[in-house]
Amino acid sequence: MELIRSPDRFRDALELARAGRQVVGFVPTLGDLHEGHARLIRTAREECGVVAVSVFVNPLQFESAADLAAYPRRLERDQAMASSIGADVVFAPAEEDMFSGGRPEVTVDPGPLGDRFEGDARPGHFRGVLTVVAKLFGLAAPCRAYFGEKDAQQLRLVRAMVGDLSLPVAVVACPTVRKVDGLAVSSRNARLSSEERRAASVLFEALSTAAALVRRGEGRADVLKAEMARRIGAESLARLDYVAVVDDRTWEEPAILDGPARALVAARFGQTRLIDNLLLPWADGSTVHNSGDS
Ligand code: PAJ
Repeated sequence: MELIRSPDRFRDALELARAGRQVVGFVPTLGDLHEGHARLIRTAREECGVVAVSVFVNPLQFESAADLAAYPRRLERDQAMASSIGADVVFAPAEEDMFSGGRPEVTVDPGPLGDRFEGDARPGHFRGVLTVVAKLFGLAAPCRAYFGEKDAQQLRLVRAMVGDLSLPVAVVACPTVRKVDGLAVSSRNARLSSEERRAASVLFEALSTAAALVRRGEGRADVLKAEMARRIGAESLARLDYVAVVDDRTWEEPAILDGPARALVAARFGQTRLIDNLLLPWADGSTVHNSGDS
C-alpha cells in the first residue's frame, strides 16, 4: 500500500494504472475510517484492479472553523485499516496542496436539492462536497467511485453531478452498515454518551416502522411522517430535526407513494446530530398504495 501526499503524484500513479488497463476504483472519505468505509473499500476491492482511498478533511464542506478543526484526524490508523482490507493507494493531501491557489473560485452548484434537508440544515455543505468530489474525480479519473447509501442525499447529488456534467465515472452505491440495534455506523457515534447511544437506535426504529406500514399498504406520506415523528418524539433524549418521505429518483415529496420512496430522518442527541434513511418497500407499480384505512 502506498501513501501519497501530492496531488500530482496521485494523478500520475492512477494514470499509470489505467495505462496498464487496470480498472481504477476510488473511495473518497474524510478519514477516521470505520466499518461503513470498510464496506466501500471491500466492494471496490472485489470489482477493481486498483483501489484508491482518499483521506481528506475537506474544508469546503464544514460550516465552521471549529467543526473543521474538531474533525478527527487519525491518518496512521486509517492507513493501516485501508491497507488491511486491500486498498492499494491512500491519498492524504495537505489542504495547502489541494488548494494551492487558495479556496476554489469556481465551484459546483448542487441545484435546488442542495438547499433541502441536509442542505437546509447545513448551508453550503453540498456545494463544498460536490466541488471536492469533482476535484478528486479530476485527479483520480476513476472508472468506478464508491459512495454509501448512509448519506443518500449526497449520493443522489453526486449521481446528478456525474450525469448532468457527463463525467466519465460509474457511481456505485453501497448499503448502509449498521450496528446490531440498527444504528447506522458513523464517526459521530463516538460523540454520544452511553444514554444517547442507546437512545439513538430510535432513528432506525422509526424508519423500520415506516417500512412496515408501507408493507401493510399505507401509502400516505403524512401518515408515515407522523408515525416516524411520534416514535422519535417519544424518546426523551432525541430532538427531531426533520422527517421526510421522498421519491427515490426525483427527491420530490409525494403526498401518496407511487413508486420507490425513501424515508429520511435527522435528529440531535445532545450536541450530536445524526441522520439516517431507508428505502421503503415497493413491490411493483401495480400495487395500490393509497390508503391505510381499508
Ligand atoms: P465520509 O463521511 O468520510 O464518508 C465517506 C463515504 O463513506 C461516504 O460515501 C459515506 O456515505 C460512506 N459511509 C459513511 N458511513 C457509512 C455507513 N454506515 N455505511 C455505508 N457507507 C457509509 O461523505 C464524506 O465523507 C464526504 O462528504 C466526501 C464524499 C468524502 C467528500 O468530502
